[in-house]
Amino acid sequence: MSATVINLPLSTARLPLDVPVRHMTFDFDPERADDRFYLRAELASAYFEALSIFLTFGEDLVIDTARHHRDLLTNQELKRRVTVLIGQEAIHSRVHNEWNDVLARHKFPVPLYRFLGGKVFEYGFNRFPQPLKLSMMAGIEHFTAVLAEFMMKHEENFFQSDDEKQRALWMWHMLEESEHKDIAYDVYQTLNGSYPLRVAGFLIAAITIVALVPFAATLIPVIRRPANLLSPDYWRDVKRSAALLFGGRNGVYGSSMAHILDYLRPDFHPNDHDTSNYIAYYRQRLLHPVHGLLTPYLDREFMPALRA
Ligand SMILES: [Fe+2]
Ligand SMILES: [Fe+2]
Repeated sequence: MSATVINLPLSTARLPLDVPVRHMTFDFDPERADDRFYLRAELASAYFEALSIFLTFGEDLVIDTARHHRDLLTNQELKRRVTVLIGQEAIHSRVHNEWNDVLARHKFPVPLYRFLGGKVFEYGFNRFPQPLKLSMMAGIEHFTAVLAEFMMKHEENFFQSDDEKQRALWMWHMLEESEHKDIAYDVYQTLNGSYPLRVAGFLIAAITIVALVPFAATLIPVIRRPANLLSPDYWRDVKRSAALLFGGRNGVYGSSMAHILDYLRPDFHPNDHDTSNYIAYYRQRLLHPVHGLLTPYLDREFMPALRA
């Protein structure tokens, strides 16, 4: 694995970015879907596919919670930014569900995981009181911001596979998670701001994203190919995949531990981790009218207007 890290200078601006809502059409082709998209590692790739299945439920919770709290805000600009968050997450959820349909055709346990995810959210998370859901929303958005920052700094991790559409899907999603990473947090601080409740939302998001989704992912290669259990190659893959996700050097979460835990600092703000120059770089790389990797899939983009 290449360990190239893109290092860009920090920007001096810490203001919220102007962020559009982008409508995308990928038309995924099941014939070309790569089961080992992430660095050719079967289990690490399965983690991202499990995340793709479960994150649609998290995004739907974010959308419902953001809609509820948007009505309570008096700051019109923050209301407008919440509309951006809702718009981006709604399109993520729809597109990932289209991708998850492709995964189902590759024998990923999509119906089972959709069933389990649906029950956990229907009888659990969705019934939490609104202040806890607001805190969870901020916590979920922190973890997606951590993931996005790691991925933006390790661009080459997306280029170990020829699956252009899966690459475009994840790069688009990571760009937008970084673009809107401060919105849920700003809503939480504006409407609630309790530190213990913020920690509670963080812990629920942490358990879900760093424990439950990896647990679900470990079952995927065995469900898809039970013979993996007897294969030395597969057990080598398990070791490598664990390092790719949780290793302290180049692991997605292992090497991001300081960033993850920084959320527990009482005066934390998402923009303390400045990614504005990465966002500028990826907007150019992904959305350039001629060379952009996402340009073939972009239908249109718009900036939600201020509403009276
Ligand atoms: Fe998202
Ligand atoms: Fe998000």
